[in-house]
Amino acid sequence: MPGIVVMGTQWGDEGKGKATDQMSERVDYCVRYSGGNNAGHTVVVGDEKFFMHLLPSGVLNPNSTAVLGNGVVLNLDVLADEIDTLRGRGVGIPHPLISANAHLITPYHQTLDKVTERFLGNRRIGTTGRGIGPTYSDKINRMGIRVQDLFDESILRQKVEASLDQKNQILVKIYNRRAIDPDEVADGLLAHAERIRPYVVDVARVLNKGLDEGKVVLFEGAQAHHLDVDFGTYPYVTSSNPIAAGACTGSGVGPTRIDRIVGIAKAYTTRVGEGPFPTELFDDDGERLRSEGSEYGVTTKRPRRCGWFDALVVQQAVMINSVTDLFLTKLDVLSGWERIPVCVAYDIDGERTGVMPVTQSDLHHAKPVYEFMDGWSEDISTARSFDDLPRNCQAYVRRLEELVGARISGIGVGAGRDESIVINDLID
Ligand code: GDP
Ligand code: IMO
Ligand code: MG
Repeated sequence: MPGIVVMGTQWGDEGKGKATDQMSERVDYCVRYSGGNNAGHTVVVGDEKFFMHLLPSGVLNPNSTAVLGNGVVLNLDVLADEIDTLRGRGVGIPHPLISANAHLITPYHQTLDKVTERFLGNRRIGTTGRGIGPTYSDKINRMGIRVQDLFDESILRQKVEASLDQKNQILVKIYNRRAIDPDEVADGLLAHAERIRPYVVDVARVLNKGLDEGKVVLFEGAQAHHLDVDFGTYPYVTSSNPIAAGACTGSGVGPTRIDRIVGIAKAYTTRVGEGPFPTELFDDDGERLRSEGSEYGVTTKRPRRCGWFDALVVQQAVMINSVTDLFLTKLDVLSGWERIPVCVAYDIDGERTGVMPVTQSDLHHAKPVYEFMDGWSEDISTARSFDDLPRNCQAYVRRLEELVGARISGIGVGAGRDESIVINDLID
């Protein structure tokens, strides 16, 4: 059972980091395949908390080799910091392998991200400001800088200059900013070249060979289905393909090599940034979910928008990603509610639908139709088997399973590494 994708089924922050870390003990390669340091993945080991922005969450496990695939956009300063910080805390992690084809985030991409958001005003996306959109734009526009360019200084300088020839016009003439010096940018990138050179490999070849030998490869998604540039709530999305199919294009393995797709779903819903969110709560209930679930962004520290579980949202992700198993996280946060609403349909201008609408305008008008489940008062954080859960809690899990059309194979009952219930082995 070697190729496994772990991916978010909502709008991010479902607990992908914890699930990945937990599985990584039996994983040979842990691969990030999309996004960049817009991600913030948390791993809690004992009293220690680790936040991964770029490194795959399997990195804390010595058995698993960390890999950054071609689909990732890479900020080399952040990568160096992240590695040094972990090592500074005494975590002896090896350097990740890096695809020669991954694109580099430069200072001008970060500046453009920020000034564009400011320019958009109340039409902004609410990006993380990490330069993600402009870097992927350059990639698609064939103006990007790749990891391999670091090893040919004259090519690198030419590419940075060509890109800034155009971007400086935009920065100066439209945004009234200072022009950026191409030599400064190139020097900043080249400063990392020798450090990373030994780890720049043909990632596709390494992973395919590993799979041929029966090694276990875990592809760790960042962001989530509904932030996908093709299938998410466009334009309120990120600029990459976090969907399971992105694991193939973002690392260089074919679709038949993926054996299992684990969708991570929070027992309620959260979102950071702008965009439609039908079950969002604006009252005390939303505040209670935020405070009991500690719903604050790992990357930007923004309070997350909170709402009830939306079965239509997760069902859509289950379908498009061929999810084989769900891992339901943060079920412990729902202890203590007398009744728990679950969104089972939308009312869109008087019409009821059980699936997500085709158009974004309809989604903006969607009003959730709730079914109310009886809650439970017990603390479930010590539960380690499904039978340990209170009856109403079991009924909640079973109902979600029915509504979204995938089996729930794991349940998170706390942030810690061991605070989970395994129903079906996710690797076997
Ligand atoms: P990711 O981006 O999908 O990796 O998720 P984040 O790390 O951004 O956010 C998930 C948060 O929930 C983190 O603070 C985790 O430590 C925490 N977490 C993960 N699983 C559980 C769980 O089952 N219960 C509780 N209470 N917290 C969890
Ligand atoms: P993880 O991997 C939650 C959101 C931003 C914004 C939109 C576009 O931790 O789940 P971007 O900077 O990517 O151009 O921003 O996407 N966003 C996330 N929201 N979790 C994330 O990552 C996110 N990464 C990006 O808030 O709305
Ligand atoms: Mg996160």
